Order: sequence, then structure tokens, then C-alpha cells
Amino acid sequence: MFTPIVSMTWKLVRPLIFLCDSEFIHNLSTFLIRSFYQVFGRAILRIKVGGPITAPHPSTPIIGLAAGFDKNAEWLPTLPSFGFQFTEIGTVTPRPQSGNDKPRLFREVSNQTLFNRMGFNNLGATMIAERLRDVKPTLPQGFEVGVNIGKNKNTRNDDAALDYAAALSPFAELVDYAVINVSSPNTVGLRDLQTLESLFPIVQASQNVILSWKKSIPLYVKLAPEVSGESLSDLIQGLESKGIDGFILTNTLAGQYTHEGQALSGGWSGSCLTETSLERLKQARSMTKKTLISVGGIMSGAHAIERIQAGADRIQVYSGWIYGGPSFPWQLRSQLDNTLVSQSNR
Ligand SMILES: Cc1cc2nc3c(=O)[nH]c(=O)nc-3n(C[C@H](O)[C@H](O)[C@H](O)COP(=O)(O)O)c2cc1C
Repeated sequence: MFTPIVSMTWKLVRPLIFLCDSEFIHNLSTFLIRSFYQVFGRAILRIKVGGPITAPHPSTPIIGLAAGFDKNAEWLPTLPSFGFQFTEIGTVTPRPQSGNDKPRLFREVSNQTLFNRMGFNNLGATMIAERLRDVKPTLPQGFEVGVNIGKNKNTRNDDAALDYAAALSPFAELVDYAVINVSSPNTVGLRDLQTLESLFPIVQASQNVILSWKKSIPLYVKLAPEVSGESLSDLIQGLESKGIDGFILTNTLAGQYTHEGQALSGGWSGSCLTETSLERLKQARSMTKKTLISVGGIMSGAHAIERIQAGADRIQVYSGWIYGGPSFPWQLRSQLDNTLVSQSNR
């Protein structure tokens, strides 16, 4: 009942919100949501933004928030209220860094895409892990948190493994899974790490960190949509042989955006990724039985269902939430639940 009201309100206010700079709106809503949480605390967990009044029947986590939206774990305690069942914080680097110069985030509303060249702006692993330690006890049971790790901009690729291990270390006993991100187009040279030769020491170093923890967690690698065919198969087979637990497909599509006559390099997400990301999922599923998290261009319930039917264990959204509005995750959940329940009743 709430969903139509929230989605109608969103359709009315969206044109006004979209008049403002994308990163300004992101920071303003982060500030508002944090203030709201500070005032109302745990009570916020009982609010369902655009969700059903009665609790939906419990299901395993399927719908998550993709990396890059809540880099610093600021939205975390409120995400279950929006209908998310898991989230991925980060990308987290060992040391804090401010990212690329602004402007660095743009919307193309007519074709429901986003363009970003953020460059891993984040508060650094230690501070983000401390924040996670504070809020973790307030999260509902079953809500999962993953951490997406990367290297600092000024770390040479030869030393990358040390950075990945250092970014992961503070998250001992705090996260449910970890993701090695070598696919962001916004850190110069990062994508060069998408080879087995470069990935082996990074995977090894990250596995050693996890081995030293009391509780083991799965380790995934997030890949770019440009990796396909033989390169994808080589990476999947090679990483599987090193004990990797799964893959996240895909990151943004590298490209350019013209702003005030200047061509900026960065990554595209949203509708332009729908087909490619689905294709990568299908290819990967034909190559592995490991966990696959599908992300990229999931803009509707139909897209979400398509991904699960194509073999995704879970899905993540970013652009779809921006365009679909606050109730988007609840909409995906109810459409997925209806489809999965009706299929299991057949
Ligand atoms: C502004 C922005 C920042 C992002 N930052 C990260 C990041 O730090 N790490 C990462 O792995 N992916 C990052 N992503 C990529 C998303 O996690 C996701 O893979 C991509 O946007 C495709 O999903 P979508 O089409 O639903 O947006 C970012 C995406 C956007 C739009």
C-alpha cells in the first residue's frame, strides 16, 4: 500500500531533485539520513520506506546495494528500511583519500544512466571499520554487509597486494564477505590488475588476512563488463584454482562524458549496462558453479527476475535506485518474491 504512494511522490519530486548537482544531492541526502538516524536511532529499523506494512516472509538475502553508494558506511543502519537485504560498503582503501576533482558524477536522465569518475573517495579502512563496529549490533538479523577493497591512488601496481591486505585487515569479524575490486575505471592503472599474474598475489594476501580471523568469509572478485569470452574464462578458471569463492559482474563501462566542452574519462552505469551485464552473467554461469552476484543496469523487477533466472545468486543495484526512487528495492523484493513463490508452487 505504501509503495504506490512513495513511488508517486518520487515521480513528482524527482524532476526538482534532478535539477541539482548529483554529488550535492548525494551528500545532502546522506546528511539528512544520518541526522534522522541520530534522532530516531533504532526506531528507524521499524520504518519501511515504500514497503509493506506487515513484515514480508523471511527470505535469504538477494537484493543488495552495490558498492560506491555507501562508501563510508553512513547509510548502513537505514538500508534495511529501504528494503535492501545486504549491502557492500566501499570501495575502501587503506588510507583515506579525497578522490578526483569535482564535478565527477553526472546523470543522463533521458536514458537512465549515470557517469562517474569519483576515484575511490573514502575515509580509509580504519575509520570505516570503526563505524561499522558501532552500527553492526543495530542491524536486523540476516542483513549482510560486504566490504569492497581497493588500493590507494599513489600505490604502485607492484605493491597493490599490500594495500588490499591493509584495507581488509580492520574488518575482522565485522563483514560477511569481501570483494577485491580491480575493475573501477577511475583509478589510473587499476584495470591492469585484471590479469591472473597480478591477481594471484592480491588474492593470496587477502586470503591470508581472512585465514587469520576467527570466522572465515567468502572472497569475491569484481570484474569489468569489458572482460568477456576467453579472458573471462581464463580469469574465472585461474581464480577458482586459487580458491576464490565467486564473482561480481559487473563494474561500470569505461567511457567519456562531455562536460562544458571538455571530454572527461570515467565509467557509465544504468540502462546502458543492462544487456552487457546480463550477457556477462550468462557467460560466467556457463563457466562456473561459484557464487555470482549480478550488478549493472537492473532498472526494473523484470530485470531482477531475468538475472536470477540466468543464474545469479544475488543482485545489486545502484543506478536503478537513483531513477526508481526510495521504494525501488521493496518493489524488486515483492516482484521477485511473487515470481519465486509462484515458480516453487508449480
Ligand atoms: C557514483 C558511483 C560510484 C561507484 N563507486 C564504486 C566503487 O567505489 N567500487 C565499486 O566496486 N563499484 C563502484 N561503482 C559501480 C557500482 O557498484 C556498479 O557496479 C555499477 O554502477 C553498475 O550498477 P548500476 O547499473 O546498477 O549502477 C560506482 C558506481 C557509481 C554510479
